[in-house]
Amino acid sequence: MVGIDIEQVDRFKNLDTHLKQRVYTKNEIEYCEKFENSSIHFAGIWCAKEAVVKCLSELNLVVSEIEILHQNNGAPYVNVTPKLQQYFDDKKFKNIHISISHINQNAIAIAMLEK
Ligand SMILES: CC(C)(COP(=O)(O)OP(=O)(O)OC[C@H]1O[C@@H](n2cnc3c(N)ncnc32)[C@H](O)[C@@H]1OP(=O)(O)O)[C@@H](O)C(=O)NCCC(=O)NCCS
Repeated sequence: MVGIDIEQVDRFKNLDTHLKQRVYTKNEIEYCEKFENSSIHFAGIWCAKEAVVKCLSELNLVVSEIEILHQNNGAPYVNVTPKLQQYFDDKKFKNIHISISHINQNAIAIAMLEK
């Protein structure tokens, strides 16, 4: 299974603090706010979350339940919660992989389940 999402970066400029904290985790906010142009990273993480929601549509997740983290080399990954791990175990999935890209006014991400 795969999922994809694309967004306009402008939508993620000057995000309201309450909305930001409702949608993004503390780690995600810290990651994005390290960059001068944080909106592009907020947009990318949003796309990754939506791509994961689509990929795991059976689970009816909402974006706030999904956390996107980064390895030291910058590669993004999904923080596999106990709920996700249980689903993977039940369905015999090994992992979920994501990739994010952005250019000027758009961000895009895909998610793919590994069987
Ligand atoms: C990773 C790389 C391909 C990004 O390409 P780019 O055209 O500059 O940028 P894109 O918009 O396509 O992609 C950016 C996204 O790539 C992802 N990314 C970053 N490093 C990555 C890596 N090592 N592997 C996979 N994905 C990576 C991130 O999700 C990033 O977006 P985010 O920070 O908002 O989450 C490029 O920077 C590269 O080749 N880096 C080599 C590794 C490196 O130099 N790392 C330095 C960090 S220590």
